Amino acid sequence: MDFQQIIPSMPYILQGIWVTLKIVLIAGVLGFIIGIVLSFLKIGRMKLLRWLADAYTSIFRGTPLVLQLMIIYYASPQLFGVQVEPYTAAILSFALNSAAYISEIIRAGIQAVDKGQREAAMALGVPYNKMMKDVILPQAMKNILPALMNEFITLTKESAIVTVIGVTDIMRRAYIVGSDKFTFLEPLLFAGLIYYCMVLVLTMAGKWVEGRMKKSD
Ligand code: ARG
Repeated sequence: MDFQQIIPSMPYILQGIWVTLKIVLIAGVLGFIIGIVLSFLKIGRMKLLRWLADAYTSIFRGTPLVLQLMIIYYASPQLFGVQVEPYTAAILSFALNSAAYISEIIRAGIQAVDKGQREAAMALGVPYNKMMKDVILPQAMKNILPALMNEFITLTKESAIVTVIGVTDIMRRAYIVGSDKFTFLEPLLFAGLIYYCMVLVLTMAGKWVEGRMKKSD
């Protein structure tokens, strides 16, 4: 192993962090928004909407993410009538996929709140919206936030598959350096180290959030 030879290429691989971060951040936020909507449909009263939200989750969790990515990228002319950019396809597929997982996290988090809380609020005549906002959601947050952090960690690691549609993220850059220098182990290990550090930061952020939640008990 000789890391000396890839030192000049390290900045190039490191620049991939921004590419990865941009995809994960935008997809994470979009996925979160869609996930919230889906979770409320799932616990809502409308049977058809509940069914649709469940079907959505089932499909997006039941097929490989890399397949969803390739459909959105390669089949975009048939789907949308235009060829989308690799970046856009990456963000879109991750957001749609993550929304399925996030909607389950939020739904389960809300439904895990003891039903006595809901009954007590109803007995006191608290209106539904107010009950959700002031009674149920603050308690649900304790279940939701740690699982949400986990989802963002998964998303960060899974983002490496954008390399199959040619996005120059950390992973693809490491591969490019490898084929340039005819040595793959060093650049790929370096990429692994970068992902690991990103996940460590997210894990620490998650621990910090959990600590804050405990304090507020
Ligand atoms: N590798 C899995 C798949 O292809 C992971 C899916 C993404 N997971 C997630 N929590 N967003 O289906």
